[in-house]
Amino acid sequence: MKNIRNFCIIAHIDHGKSTLADRLLEFTKTVSDREMQQQLLDSMDLERERGITIKSHAIQMNYTHNGEEYVLNLIDTPGHVDFSYEVSRSIAACEGALLIVDASQGIEAQTISNLYLAIEHDLEIIPVMNKIDLPHANPEVVADEIVDLISCDHEDIIPASGKTGAGVDKILEAIVNRIPAPKGDPDGPLQALIFDSVYNSFRGVEVYFRIMNGSIKKGDRVKFVNTGKEYGADEIGALKLKQEPRKEVKTGDVGYLISGIKEAKEVKVGDTITHKERPCETAIAGFEDVKPMVFAGIYPVDTQEFEELRASMEKLQLNDASLVWEPETSAALGFGFRCGFLGMLHLEIIQERLEREFNMTVITTAPSVQYHAYMNDGEKVIVNAPSDMPDPGKLDRIEEPFIKANIITKADYVGPVIGLCIEKRGTMMNQTYLTTDRVELVFEMPLSEVVFDFFDKLKTISKGYASFDYELIGFRSSKLVKLDILLNADSVDAFSAIVHRDHAYDRGKKICEKLREVIDRQQFEIPIQAAIGTKVIARETIKALRKNVIAKCYGGDISRKRKLLEKQKKGKKRMRQLGNVEVTQEAFMAVLSVD
Ligand code: GTP
Repeated sequence: MKNIRNFCIIAHIDHGKSTLADRLLEFTKTVSDREMQQQLLDSMDLERERGITIKSHAIQMNYTHNGEEYVLNLIDTPGHVDFSYEVSRSIAACEGALLIVDASQGIEAQTISNLYLAIEHDLEIIPVMNKIDLPHANPEVVADEIVDLISCDHEDIIPASGKTGAGVDKILEAIVNRIPAPKGDPDGPLQALIFDSVYNSFRGVEVYFRIMNGSIKKGDRVKFVNTGKEYGADEIGALKLKQEPRKEVKTGDVGYLISGIKEAKEVKVGDTITHKERPCETAIAGFEDVKPMVFAGIYPVDTQEFEELRASMEKLQLNDASLVWEPETSAALGFGFRCGFLGMLHLEIIQERLEREFNMTVITTAPSVQYHAYMNDGEKVIVNAPSDMPDPGKLDRIEEPFIKANIITKADYVGPVIGLCIEKRGTMMNQTYLTTDRVELVFEMPLSEVVFDFFDKLKTISKGYASFDYELIGFRSSKLVKLDILLNADSVDAFSAIVHRDHAYDRGKKICEKLREVIDRQQFEIPIQAAIGTKVIARETIKALRKNVIAKCYGGDISRKRKLLEKQKKGKKRMRQLGNVEVTQEAFMAVLSVD
């Protein structure tokens, strides 16, 4: 146990976490050159394409230092806020963290939020300044930022480059010398923390764990404390480049367990594994049932494909425990599903997987957050879709989720960033100068205002010099109303939205204008109206089609356009007939992309 080191890497997206991890694996000869592929840890195709780590994994390295053999377990953490609970459990499984900061970029919002998590868990922080090979690197300034942030000495910071391999030896030495060995009672009852699980259609769910106390042997009868389920430890082992079966995994170590579990949702990250016969007294603290934060309807483009979509959703849920769904009927779109996601990235991943892996063409309705409605008679109603919104006459109040947003930006852009946050109903809580040129802003704001395109807007107004992260702080009462959209005098439930009363008029007007742009002209005139209850607050008209109208050119980015073309080639468009009006996917999202 004294020669084990468990660590994770904290870094903002693109600061070079994966590249540096690859160098560590190379240096310790965990992978041979032949096996070495770029960004080895990002194994899912989707991950590779997006260049972001979606699911966390772990890998074990052997390292000899001063004649002593060490086992180093690197626990990878996902970089996106949608998966922050997984990050927190990975951190809980470690004694130390490499804090990687890009020498040309400095500290960013994601760095800070994950760093705080690591400090909360008493992790030893090893600051690494990466990309020192870059000509425009700014090591002095960035080092000052790091010193200020974690109150370390300048000498504690390791300069490194994932590209050239500089500093990798120093990092490994620091892992051994600075990070404490795991503690725990090797003879105590088994207590192991599940920090991740991966679905494998052949072997069942692979459970990744870190043993806090006791040990686990192949064939043991184990129990997952929070779910109460029992299993046989059919196979256990170490997570090398490939899984290596072992007879026993001991205190302080990281390993995997396979016991024929068929569904991802049976295994909950954060749960505690113990022995059936000699159970531990308490579960490891910090377990949470992750709850979806964003909800949207998913409908087949072709109504005939509903059952096929259901089968695909069921399969997806087998390997994605955080996806929840239930059947939903929309007057406009027919039969489909109301789905809950961890966030917008998760939603996009699911939509993409449905299309790629299951060959489904789906329409996604505008995402919304979960609202809590309290009725006059005291009843609480959960509102996951605008159509769930109760009759305003019977409503006492409605509450919406609020977040604490952390934004780091260049001083030049503080004005526009504050302006944007206030427009999004934010309240500024704090403003700190990290250096003379970089400012951290803390806002409290409604989650609904950031789920969709807040980050894109932030990037635009700051010319890319802003990073953003958030955490949920609870539900607060707001003046919210349901905004209905009528197409050709018919209310289209898939277009309705829950909005703040003070923004309703403006939103209604803009949604109508946007829909007028994105819905193709047809043979007849189409009125578009926005209404609250029976009161129409805005109206636009799509004129009837004349001859010689050039084919509509879609806006948006090139990949969307390419996708659309591919779809059309297949003869199936992401398009739905609403009454007698044809509407594209773009229109369904238009409700959100206005302002
Ligand atoms: P996410 O997985 O998205 O969080 O990114 P990451 O932090 O893992 O970054 P990644 O390793 O993918 O590196 C991001 C980009 O920086 C890639 O284009 C790398 O080639 C480049 N990069 C990484 N390390 C270095 C370095 O030390 N020097 C230089 N010049 N480029 C680097």
